[in-house]
Amino acid sequence: MSEFATRAVHAGLEPDPAFGSVIPAIHQTSTYAQPAPGEFVGDFDYARSANPTRAALERALGELESGQASAFASGMAATHALMTAVARTGAHVVLPDDLYGGTYRLVDKVLARWGLRYDLVDQTDLDAVSAALRPDTALVWVETPTNPGLKVVDVEAIVARSGDALVAVDNTFATPVVQRPLELGADAVVHSTTKYLGGHSDTVGGAVIVRSPGLHEEVRFVQNAVGAVPGPLDCFLVHRGLRTLHLRVAAHTENGRAVSEWLRDAPDVSEVRWPGFGGMVSFRHPDAIGIATRTRLFTLAESLGGVESLIEVPQAMTHQSVEGSAAAVAPDLVRLSVGVEAASDLVADLAAAVAGADARALSGSQQHHG
Ligand SMILES: Cc1ncc(COP(=O)(O)O)c(C=O)c1O
Repeated sequence: MSEFATRAVHAGLEPDPAFGSVIPAIHQTSTYAQPAPGEFVGDFDYARSANPTRAALERALGELESGQASAFASGMAATHALMTAVARTGAHVVLPDDLYGGTYRLVDKVLARWGLRYDLVDQTDLDAVSAALRPDTALVWVETPTNPGLKVVDVEAIVARSGDALVAVDNTFATPVVQRPLELGADAVVHSTTKYLGGHSDTVGGAVIVRSPGLHEEVRFVQNAVGAVPGPLDCFLVHRGLRTLHLRVAAHTENGRAVSEWLRDAPDVSEVRWPGFGGMVSFRHPDAIGIATRTRLFTLAESLGGVESLIEVPQAMTHQSVEGSAAAVAPDLVRLSVGVEAASDLVADLAAAVAGADARALSGSQQHHG
């Protein structure tokens, strides 16, 4: 098998057989002509069930994560499909005690209505994971690094302890450049492709990638039955993003290192976290809201993983749904999605915001607020 960089550039792409275009067409269609009733090419009878642009993206995602992929309309749609494919009424799931707020909301507010039960566990404590497992545990849901606390979880160790429960890993923060959970023994990977895989903050999407053909069929069945499928243009954008993923993650990593090193010595900043790769950095500061409001280059916005830098306060923005639960987030926590701009400009922007300086004094026509 070729190196990751080579696969990232070529995965899922074959020149168009009709015209030879190096990049296949965006198949903006809802249906496909049938020469006779029930006769059609491949899976292509109706575009909720299958679309060639989506199929190309799914081949690419499967190649990069070493499994079989299904693409969804959002990361949450992907998470919903996997959980409903795996868990029956009354089943139990183990969730991390630090996780994306929307994942908690899906389980706590939607799937719990159909009897799904859950426990929140610090998955860096392997004995706590073992203690949380029950005979009816269908799924151990892992997020690593976690959002927003950036805890790193040992996927292989969780797999070794999970017995009959399936292990699914939300690989949105790490990306397959850094971590390929199926190669570590996990059963499923979920992505918000909205983030690093798309990489340019211009599309919303999700993916489930699994090892077993049986589970792939079950996810496919839910995908078609529920219908949370991505449009062809969104699939095209994510697929284009994949081709530079390795380059972007390398650049995010350089900038994540530079920004976190600066933060470690910054006044009144504490608990700086950076997992050692990628662009996700978090820290605590008594004036979290003020800092997030004062930056100019870091846009105040939800989401992450794009080439441009973003700043947010999770407790007030992305994680309101975990308020009052064991996964609640401290109000003084700031989360950065460090982009691929010049590190010196990013550090200068943060320094001005932390100092409470009037950041408008920063020069540059491209600097604006979101
Ligand atoms: C780790 C993680 N998983 C899943 C999601 C949900 O993805 P989407 O917003 O594409 O539905 C997000 C969104 O922020 C996330 O950060």
